[in-house]
Amino acid sequence: MPSYLQEQWYVCSWSHSLTDQPIGTNLLNERVVLWRDGTGRARAAVDQCPHRGTQLSLGSVDESGCITCPYHGWRFDSSGRCIEVPQNSPETAIPRKAALTSIACEERYGMIWLCLGEPHFSIPSFPEWTNPRFHHVSCSPYTWECSAERMLENFTDFGHLGYLHDGLLGRRDDLIVPEHQVTSEANQLRYQMTMVVPNAGESLPVANFRGESGLQTNTYVVDLPYTIHLQSYYHDTQSSRVLFFSIQPHSDGRATGYCYQSRDFDLEADDSPFVEFQELLAAQDQPIVESQRPVAAPLDLTSELHLGFDRVAIAYRRAMKRLMETASSTPTRVNHKEEVTCM
Ligand code: FES
Ligand code: CO
Repeated sequence: MPSYLQEQWYVCSWSHSLTDQPIGTNLLNERVVLWRDGTGRARAAVDQCPHRGTQLSLGSVDESGCITCPYHGWRFDSSGRCIEVPQNSPETAIPRKAALTSIACEERYGMIWLCLGEPHFSIPSFPEWTNPRFHHVSCSPYTWECSAERMLENFTDFGHLGYLHDGLLGRRDDLIVPEHQVTSEANQLRYQMTMVVPNAGESLPVANFRGESGLQTNTYVVDLPYTIHLQSYYHDTQSSRVLFFSIQPHSDGRATGYCYQSRDFDLEADDSPFVEFQELLAAQDQPIVESQRPVAAPLDLTSELHLGFDRVAIAYRRAMKRLMETASSTPTRVNHKEEVTCM
């Protein structure tokens, strides 16, 4: 069983969604529970009481930050240790096995990140988060009935921009994908493309964005398995917009994308057009991605047709395959560099 996916960090909630009650969610087919301990720190464990397998997320959190099972009231502290069995007399010792299976949990960028195993790489970088020039807007999370790989690839798929998103991210009368090179190193892919996209046009069903027009250079960093940092630099206005997009793989066929839009222009402007534009694109993408079969994107490159302009998908599938195989043969950090030169 490859451990690569278990060793990565995944966004599983916005920070602001986790308050004084536990949240149950899924990560890589595992039920997990999140809660805040007495210091306000986010904690996570497998969402299963060691007594009779009940979901802890159906329980509650007390003022001291202990989580209580809803079935027999056993209480667990921030480390997952059981500190109270109400059915026992006070002098009866609580067995050491009465403990939750803790999960590594970190809070960063206003998001809660979990790793089911030993983290193999750091949480993906989002340098604009602490840059005071940028204003951040969170979009509503997208939960789609698809694999995380298909959702990630959709975000990186240049070929569909002008076709599916005609008039928004390109045009059907100009579908030729500009030249680009993909560099793959360790757990990252990087590529860049300069293009004109009509996402600032008067004809859009959403408000115009003053900072975005004309020629733009898009720089992508994909942190495998499921995070994208896309910086769009607008040459005319010398302004930038960043999309930080990270996916929670609930199961093999369900994924949630969390997205920030960060901009260094129109700082006082209403945020809703930025969110509406993203939602418009997502509404076009969702039925397409949910229809794709097989549900899992085949990492074997002979199973689907790959043309030259699909080189990001080619690089992504190659890198995922390599990381999974490396992880299953050795638990050490990989360091590998290659360029995708097909076409
Ligand atoms: Fe949780 Fe009994 S099942 S306390
Ligand atoms: Co799309």
